[in-house]
Amino acid sequence: MLATCQAGYEDSLAGEMAANGWLPSGRGPGWVDCVGGPGGGPPELAFAPLILTEPVLLQADAVNALAQKAVDYFAGSLRDERIGNAWPNLWSGSPGVGGLPRRVAATRQAFDELLRRKLSRVARLAAPGVPPGVGPERGLFVVFTDFDRAWVSRTAILGGQRRMADDPSAPSRSFLKVEEAYGVLGAEPGADEAVIDLGAAPGGWSYSAARRGANVLAVDNGPLKAGALGNPRIEHRREDAFGFRPPQGRTFDWMFCDVVEEPHHVLRNLVTPWLEGGWCRRFVVNLKFGRTGPVALLQELRAAGSPFVRHAASFRIRHLYHDREEFTVVGVAASALQDAREDRPCGSHGE
Ligand SMILES: C[S@@+](CC[C@H](N)C(=O)[O-])C[C@H]1O[C@@H](n2cnc3c(N)ncnc32)[C@H](O)[C@@H]1O
Repeated sequence: MLATCQAGYEDSLAGEMAANGWLPSGRGPGWVDCVGGPGGGPPELAFAPLILTEPVLLQADAVNALAQKAVDYFAGSLRDERIGNAWPNLWSGSPGVGGLPRRVAATRQAFDELLRRKLSRVARLAAPGVPPGVGPERGLFVVFTDFDRAWVSRTAILGGQRRMADDPSAPSRSFLKVEEAYGVLGAEPGADEAVIDLGAAPGGWSYSAARRGANVLAVDNGPLKAGALGNPRIEHRREDAFGFRPPQGRTFDWMFCDVVEEPHHVLRNLVTPWLEGGWCRRFVVNLKFGRTGPVALLQELRAAGSPFVRHAASFRIRHLYHDREEFTVVGVAASALQDAREDRPCGSHGE
């Protein structure tokens, strides 16, 4: 398999693969590959927005030659397949190679043109961009690792990470993380749902929920700003998030947690009581890597003693497109299993 990651996180992705028994065989800026693993499908990889599961290397110096090879590969792979629906046609390039985006775009354009001439009906069904959702997909997935080298695969696993559009009224860039997290979970706050936002200031996550019509209790000693300040759907409580407890018998539809604190402290003293107590149905929790390091922290989050393993019905850990030195964990609380039947994350690739 060949997996992509944010530039600068190759060691973390390779470490995550190795921790799952998949030994990396090569890597470059924004990607790691691996020839074999312990069997079964590729593991859940928090660092990988895209995993090519059957990568084939195409090499050619010229744009048109490479595009022709991609068309030949694609057409050859269609032999027994009838394409009747839109298929993802996803092209990307290693972020560390200067000028590569232009080469990717030119090759893709040449590919689209050649495919139109060869298989016009199939070409018309091509869908650009990252498909929504999480899990296995069939289409054409192309990752350039250099000007003359492209890996292609008909099958891929999507992690759900994607770049989100900003909102000028959002009080922080953090807003983009929670917007992206909804796509990984496959659910977002709805009108009149109740949201608790722990470590809320300046209010990006609260604003994100409020603009969907949810009612938010924003807990933070710091001030709310921009679209969160004075928002009629947001009540600000200047309190310590670790000490905050919901009124007896109250369950929130969503628990957001984005406090900047040591991850074990957050897991032990915030995530555990909220999930164990059944005080929320779904959650979005951001955890800074801290001194533990990303791979060790991932293993802890997936181990038997983790509050997510013990108290969540399902969860996913992701290094989001908008994350830096942090993970975002989304999921459904075990206590919400009854009413979660219709609300579970879509796809079958959950942890
Ligand atoms: C990364 S910011 C949150 C950003 C927010 N999610 C947004 O979208 O704007 C982290 C926040 O955690 C708050 N925080 C840290 N420790 C806290 C605590 N013990 N109780 C409440 N808030 C805390 C900080 O005041 C800070 O506003």
